[in-house]
Amino acid sequence: MLKTLFCGDLRPEHAGQDVVLAGWVNRRRDQGGLIFIDLRDRWGICQIVVDEENAPDAHANANNARNEYVLQVKGKVRMRPEGTSNPDLATGEVEVVASEINVLNPAKTPPFYINKEDNIEEAVRMKYRYLDLRRPKMQNNIVLRHKAVKFIRDWLDERGFVEVETPILFKTTPEGARDFLVPSRLQPGKFYALPQSPQQLKQLLMVGGYERYFQIARCFRDEDLRGQRQPEFTQLDLEMSFVEREDVMQLNETMMRELVKKVTPDKRIMEEPFPRLLYKDAMDWYGSDKPDIRYDLRAIDISDLAGKSGFPVFVNNVEAGHPVRVLRAPGMAGELSGTKLRQVAAELEDMAKAAGAKGLAYIALSSDPNGEAKGPISKFFTVDQKVELFERTGAQPGDLLLFMSDRKEVVWDVTDVLRRHLAQELGLLDTSLLAFCWVIDFPEFLWNEDEQRWDPSQHLFTMPMPEDVTLLDTDPGAARGSQYDMVCNGFEVAGGSIRIHDRALQEKIFPLIGQNMESAREQFGHILEAFEYGVPPHGGIAWGIDRIVALLAGEPNIREVIAFPKSQTGADVMSGTPSAAEPGQLAELHIKLDLPEEDEE
Ligand code: AMO
Ligand code: AMP
Repeated sequence: MLKTLFCGDLRPEHAGQDVVLAGWVNRRRDQGGLIFIDLRDRWGICQIVVDEENAPDAHANANNARNEYVLQVKGKVRMRPEGTSNPDLATGEVEVVASEINVLNPAKTPPFYINKEDNIEEAVRMKYRYLDLRRPKMQNNIVLRHKAVKFIRDWLDERGFVEVETPILFKTTPEGARDFLVPSRLQPGKFYALPQSPQQLKQLLMVGGYERYFQIARCFRDEDLRGQRQPEFTQLDLEMSFVEREDVMQLNETMMRELVKKVTPDKRIMEEPFPRLLYKDAMDWYGSDKPDIRYDLRAIDISDLAGKSGFPVFVNNVEAGHPVRVLRAPGMAGELSGTKLRQVAAELEDMAKAAGAKGLAYIALSSDPNGEAKGPISKFFTVDQKVELFERTGAQPGDLLLFMSDRKEVVWDVTDVLRRHLAQELGLLDTSLLAFCWVIDFPEFLWNEDEQRWDPSQHLFTMPMPEDVTLLDTDPGAARGSQYDMVCNGFEVAGGSIRIHDRALQEKIFPLIGQNMESAREQFGHILEAFEYGVPPHGGIAWGIDRIVALLAGEPNIREVIAFPKSQTGADVMSGTPSAAEPGQLAELHIKLDLPEEDEE
């Protein structure tokens, strides 16, 4: 080894010892005859002192060294002189007096500071990711990720789960995104699809008798990338035989609670056991099937009351069966003047309109309890109706009440957008809090208006709730699936279900989602056939590891917890991926390019 101790491990107990350290120059201070170097490795930073008189060669090397040079330092540990210890550093009570310094590798001036948490432009960070990864914050994130995955592996191993690797080169395993295709050289014109998840393979492992399977699995989905999506990402994929919904949920909730306590003991879980929300309530209250419940801000239904008001829009909507709901923004009207209030309301209305609404009516309560309620629709409610309205919404002086009315889907979207905005605006986002919940009783199918057909709300292997199976024949839209999603702080962190394990029932799903039997058998023949050879009832779940680690690390974006993530355009700018293939490679694969004009060179 080129070092005998890690920089960050240096402590008073080492005083008097000869040590060899190696790492990067985090900072260098030249005080003439004395040079101080903060030497950094993954374990931390320690101070090196180089004295020109006692160690002239070491001093000459230290003199030439710059930030990010890689040095090997030999020397003796001593307590820092009285009054010079640094309480901010774990190694701050000691220092190493260098007798020899070897430059193992020099460094150009990096494009950004490694030793400061500056706002570095993301494009530059990605181009020089290997430098970005040196920053202590990134190192903490990557190590946290390792610890989380190690915890999961050990925890599941203790409970009889086996980790099984499944192929990356496979057939389409649809989860609702586009497949990445890989051409086959040995079978020209044919393609592998990279798995969107190991879904079918883990079910086949259940048919194979493994009973308790898991895998830290890479998944590939060619979809438009937003903050919490990557084209390749990692799941904890898990499947169990002879279980019911409750068994899978209990096991995963316990594992999650223990994981949080083990790897991020400073985070607080808001409620245990995790609250459970019906899909329908989650949508009506929060406008989302992945609600952030760190804050309440829920939409309150006042359809009956508004239907009797004098406001024609509400009356007509209620007659047509559409809801009227109110979001209460605590204190938001407060002391605002008339002009300012109209401005705030107009901004909120623009947001609602961008989400599909036709308008956003409001009533502002004066901060004086005897003052008058303001807003263009105030006049349409009688005094008694207003009293009831304030009672039902829990309105307090100074509150702003926002009224949404439209088709229920539009009201959901507006609720979601406004809740997220108000939470920001009102400072309700507690970053030390993890608000987990389960969402259950999803519909088995969601209507696809464009294609005029049902889409699976999870995937086509989800078992309907046992009491709803017969609805597949009569009213598929009313059937609930046995799906469960685990949500935290507004993100879906895991999703799973009990599966269909019966060929006849599985075959019933295909025509409902607009797939003809012939193409279904072509795509899924192997699993349909397997379903004829003794299949245990089974179910499982998959966790989005990137999302969970980002939440634990308090990072807003999953790119911060992935060593080499892709950009918004699916590129790795460091290596220039994706890149053109050599003509010879294409010829071998019998592939001819037919690019649109502007892309041709
Ligand atoms: P699902 O598609 O819900 O379920 O995925 C499971 C979890 O994976 C995470 N996730 C992603 N993370 C980063 N980037 C992406 N593009 C991305 N897509 C999904 C989410 C999500 O909750 N086979 C089923 C699971 C099952 O039924 O057992 C599946 O893949 O956190
Ligand atoms: P108007 O009568 O068109 O001036 O509208 C009065 C108020 O009702 C305005 O603040 C509008 O934004 C609001 N409004 C109009 N349509 C709707 C609707 N469908 N839902 C909620 N508010 C609405």
